Amino acid sequence: MNWSLRQMKLEDVPIFLEWYNDEELHNTANAKKFKPYSLEELTEYWREKLSRSNATYYSILLDDKVVGRAGLKKPKNDDETSVEFSIVIGVTTLHSKGLGTRVTENLVKEAFLEPENSAVFLGVRQDNKRAIRCYEKVGFQISKEYIENHVEMYEMKVERNKIY
Ligand SMILES: CC(C)(COP(=O)(O)OP(=O)(O)OC[C@H]1O[C@@H](n2cnc3c(N)ncnc32)[C@H](O)[C@@H]1OP(=O)(O)O)[C@@H](O)C(=O)NCCC(=O)NCCS
Repeated sequence: MNWSLRQMKLEDVPIFLEWYNDEELHNTANAKKFKPYSLEELTEYWREKLSRSNATYYSILLDDKVVGRAGLKKPKNDDETSVEFSIVIGVTTLHSKGLGTRVTENLVKEAFLEPENSAVFLGVRQDNKRAIRCYEKVGFQISKEYIENHVEMYEMKVERNKIY
């Protein structure tokens, strides 16, 4: 699989629009209520996110085509030593082919290149079995259960000293 990661650019946003407006994909990945975006709204949303100094966002490329996105974010007012990971492979025909596992493993390693980062965590719907399996393969374990917008969620975490 000829995949790669590069820093996300604002010019990638039109590619994301179809994924954001896919209600089924949204409800697989999110606890938030589905809300369709216009290109202008989504561009403004990402313009703000890409200006943040506490986060790095990546586009996932397969054969030079953008097929997904991922991020590493230091939560504000939180434990300075953990980083939040997120990922969406927007091209749904590519799911369950191993790409998510490879990208996740790569970005966990990237996060641990920073000596102060001792853990990577994420939030996932308890019914998102494919994502949970992907994260478990990379070493994440369930660290908390919580409810977000009436949806049962897990926090999953991988600690540097466990495997990396
Ligand atoms: C979650 C996501 C990033 C995972 O990436 P992926 O490339 O599809 O995942 P992988 O193929 O690397 O791994 C998925 C694993 O789950 C398994 N799986 C698939 N469907 C499953 C199910 N319903 N129940 C249990 N396991 C399942 C696959 O067989 C595979 O495991 P295996 O390698 O042991 O066979 C990707 O599916 C995605 O972007 N989904 C939509 C958005 C999303 O859910 N994002 C995460 C929000 S927390």
